[in-house]
Amino acid sequence: MKGIKQIAIGIAFLLVFLTACKEQKSTQTEKNIEQKVEQLLQQMTLEEKLGQMNQISPFGDDEAIKEGVKNGTIGSILNIIEPNQVNELQRIALEESRLGIPILIARDVIHGFKTIFPIPLGQAATFNPITVEYGARIAAIEASSVGIQWTFAPMIDISRDPRWGRIAESLGEDPYLASTLGSAMVRGFQGDSLHLPTAIAACPKHFVGYGASEGGKDYNSTFIPERQLRNVYLPPFEAAAQAGAATFMTSFNDNDGIPATANSFVLKDILRDEWNFDGIVVTDWASAAEMITHGFVADDKEATEKSVNAGVDMEMVSGMFIRRIPELIKEGKVKEQTINQAVRNILRIKFRLGLFDNPYVDEQAPSPFYNAHHLEAAKQMAVESMILLKNEKETLPLSTDIKTLAVVGPMADAPHDQLGTWIFDGDKQYTQTPLAALKKEFGDQFNILYEPGLEFSRDRNTKHFPQAVNIAQKADAVVLFLGEEAILTGEAHSLADINLVGAQSELVKVLAQTGKPLITVIMAGRPLAIEQEVKLSDAVLYSFHPGTMGGPALVDLLFGKEVPSGKTPVTFPKTSGQIPIYYAHNNTGRPATGNELLLDQIPLEAGQTSLGNTSFHLDAGFHPLFPFGYGLSYTTFEYSNIQLSANQLKEHEVLTISFDLENTGKLRGTEIAQLYVRDVVGSITRPIKELKRYKRVTLDPKEKQKVTFELPIKELAFWNIDLKRVVEPGEFHLWVAPHSAATGEPLVFEVI
Ligand code: NOJ
Repeated sequence: MKGIKQIAIGIAFLLVFLTACKEQKSTQTEKNIEQKVEQLLQQMTLEEKLGQMNQISPFGDDEAIKEGVKNGTIGSILNIIEPNQVNELQRIALEESRLGIPILIARDVIHGFKTIFPIPLGQAATFNPITVEYGARIAAIEASSVGIQWTFAPMIDISRDPRWGRIAESLGEDPYLASTLGSAMVRGFQGDSLHLPTAIAACPKHFVGYGASEGGKDYNSTFIPERQLRNVYLPPFEAAAQAGAATFMTSFNDNDGIPATANSFVLKDILRDEWNFDGIVVTDWASAAEMITHGFVADDKEATEKSVNAGVDMEMVSGMFIRRIPELIKEGKVKEQTINQAVRNILRIKFRLGLFDNPYVDEQAPSPFYNAHHLEAAKQMAVESMILLKNEKETLPLSTDIKTLAVVGPMADAPHDQLGTWIFDGDKQYTQTPLAALKKEFGDQFNILYEPGLEFSRDRNTKHFPQAVNIAQKADAVVLFLGEEAILTGEAHSLADINLVGAQSELVKVLAQTGKPLITVIMAGRPLAIEQEVKLSDAVLYSFHPGTMGGPALVDLLFGKEVPSGKTPVTFPKTSGQIPIYYAHNNTGRPATGNELLLDQIPLEAGQTSLGNTSFHLDAGFHPLFPFGYGLSYTTFEYSNIQLSANQLKEHEVLTISFDLENTGKLRGTEIAQLYVRDVVGSITRPIKELKRYKRVTLDPKEKQKVTFELPIKELAFWNIDLKRVVEPGEFHLWVAPHSAATGEPLVFEVI
């Protein structure tokens, strides 16, 4: 016994020693990097410095690009993905340019490079940082194999408006969920060390507030006051910076009149001074030049001055820094030390990425694209991302004993569209659609009848409906695949109305009339307003755009090989008019009570005040269609025995919350348990609930597990009336719940 104790102590010492050595080594490496950066900087001409700040996208003239690399006037290139081209340009940079500075090769690798994972909004539905990190790791392995060293991801704009097409790229509406998953993506892309060959630099974007674009129209203005900016929009970015993100991207929106690319308050005061970020700040695509169109600057010279002085290091594609900075320096409008600082930031990341040692890619290495392991990971993530929204009479899972299955809908076999937005490099030939997966898995076991009914989601031609009804009548069950084409989502693809497009709703109606069990699967880039379709269906699975392996994942879920576990990462409105709608809203002075009379219930000529005065819509009430954090399973879970470690705590203390979670159904399944807290009275009004923790718990039937959450009280801090981040003493309410709208008496504790 004593011997074991000594060995244990020995191991503990060794671990401490090794960690100390590792830390010392990394401090040493960092010191060396800073020295090398300074040495290089001293040798650089102004033109070479400005070259580093210049990012180009190929413009068709390869010779001019080579010339630019040789002259040191290009620091970064985006959108080159041919290994031999990358190698040739890096060779020119290292061997033929005066100072041998490598190029930084960038690409939008958003939810996979070749193997496409679910869209980020779908990834958020997993509430699983491990799966999300792993997905980003695989994307980095595939992307780095062609020489990409930098991705413009994760996109962590808090998104509370499903009309906005870019909600698809986001991690949803909640600051805590987006913080945990966004930093998981950063870790996945960058790996254990930026220096490793498969690491690619991450770029949290868009800094900041872009998700609040007015009316959900892309590129639109935002009006976010500082307190809300800090309490809602900045937390995911701060978490990403803490996770070591190497770069940040500015955004297209102007907030309260100041375009993000010239906002020194966020780019300098917050990012650099408060968060100590020492990486690269890049503009979005020509976003500095667009400040002319915004009406914020008169010309590209002023745009350059404003963005460089605000803290931008690198300009994407318009080339104006290199053109205009020399005169701005001469006129004293931009200081050379500002330029030096920007170049330091860029060189530092190039050193950290190991590009000075080896910027090349091994052209002979076996390709990692679509390997079995990557496909399996994409499938697993797709399984975890799908949300069961309705399952009446245990319609799902389907029995494999059926004789005939009718497969209908424009998304049943849409290899391009199920990949979703931002898939520059994904190849639809590798997509496994639900129809293909069903045929592969069950083609020999039962009849599969297929009639899309509509050729694509926007199709309004109902001429194939009779055939769809006909196969439904012959079948034991109908699986209807609806949704939206990838192009209806993503950048610049916003909608005013988030109903199903084309004649899809009519298709649901005619199929529901057959009386056959109707399972509707929705593949989309946003939460759609599907109240009627949910009513008419017996079961609804929401898969977002699920990526390359969406088909097999859906088949496993439909037939019970897997049990759904995804939860809504964003509130689903009943109708577009409810937008913006999100769970963490303030209470108002007159919150809705649930007793409100809706449009059809109001007596004729009712008196103006006779109905009560609360905050709701006459035609839509105040409930969403599905709240944030919602999702069913094929099994059921029961929460009980919720205990708090203390009822009075101080700011430095940690509250432990424990509860029993029991699988009360018949199948093994995973529940995402959620912890919500409400700060009852604040120096400013506070949200009615805020997500503070979540946990995926897998249980066998009848298994009961004690689950605990640790909540440091300091995490209850918020930016208060004095714009200070503080925990304000007072009463707090707490819920452990399956979703954000779960009602019930809260537990109460006090911060003293
Ligand atoms: C514009 C988009 O807003 C941004 O997200 C993207 O990374 C850049 N273009 C580069 O493609």
